Amino acid sequence: MPLIELDGVSFTYRGATEAALRNLSLSVDQGEFVGVIGPTGAGKSTLCWVIVGVAPQILQGRLEGRVRVKDLDPSQRPISEIAQVVALVQQDAEAQLLMTDVEKEIIFPLENLSLPREEIGRRLTRALELTNLASERLRHPFYLSGGQKQRVAVAAALAMEPEILILDEATSELDPIGAEEVHRLAGDLKSRGKTILMVEHNIDELAKHADRIVVLDKGEKVREGPTREILTDVGLLTGLGIYPPQVTQVSHRLASRGFPLHPLPLTLKEALQAFAAAGVRS
Ligand SMILES: Nc1ncnc2c1ncn2[C@@H]1O[C@H](COP(=O)(O)OP(=O)(O)OP(=O)(O)O)[C@@H](O)[C@H]1O
Ligand SMILES: [Mg+2]
Repeated sequence: MPLIELDGVSFTYRGATEAALRNLSLSVDQGEFVGVIGPTGAGKSTLCWVIVGVAPQILQGRLEGRVRVKDLDPSQRPISEIAQVVALVQQDAEAQLLMTDVEKEIIFPLENLSLPREEIGRRLTRALELTNLASERLRHPFYLSGGQKQRVAVAAALAMEPEILILDEATSELDPIGAEEVHRLAGDLKSRGKTILMVEHNIDELAKHADRIVVLDKGEKVREGPTREILTDVGLLTGLGIYPPQVTQVSHRLASRGFPLHPLPLTLKEALQAFAAAGVRS
């Protein structure tokens, strides 16, 4: 049984004339890493909000179709109940840190679950370890770097022990080093079997981690397929204003001038192998 299942889902914000999601179906299995891409306004965040129940419960509007997250209907159950199955980390999560130290930031949401002390302690230790923040546990978030702050937000989300983690442009406000930290963490969580849905404009990072890519445009799913198939489709991506991975772009240009580079490489490692096979010396 899929962990996330959407069947013919449309969502129209209250007062809006056009639907933000149109007849969207999607199924995500346990342990999958699914990337979501699309231009601004495509409905990527709306998709995340529908999965966690924020739309229509907080962001109001008309929801049609069927949404199930581990068999729960997120539009009908308390958001706090859904949050224990699926956690959402957004781009400005770091700006929402409220507490005076990292540890409190992670513990605070757990206290609302009325868990026993020892369980809170166990979850705290594990969240700090997963996000590599143990040495920062008593620091004030204010003094952390952007990447560290965003990792605190991920740690707080993970401490809820959700089966699914959704990252909605969680690195877009970070410098390259901070973004790299969060991407490394996402790759790490994947290797530990966590189910991840990642909305991301850094295509090179998605190329490294995602099993599958869903492409949204104007609220519709325009394509879905294995990462390689979607991210090497230079025509599809550029048509939507999305830059393919850098090595794919370069290889695409070389291929159009007659270099035998088929299939197009997706990562630097693949590109070097493909160039070597095509007789290009490094
Ligand atoms: N809270 C809201 N109230 C009303 N309309 C909204 C709201 N949030 C988004 N929309 C509209 O819904 C559509 C989809 O927006 P959404 O934010 O889901 O797109 P997105 O793909 O996440 O874009 P971006 O890349 O800019 O984050 C857009 O037309 C947007 O204007
Ligand atoms: Mg968005």
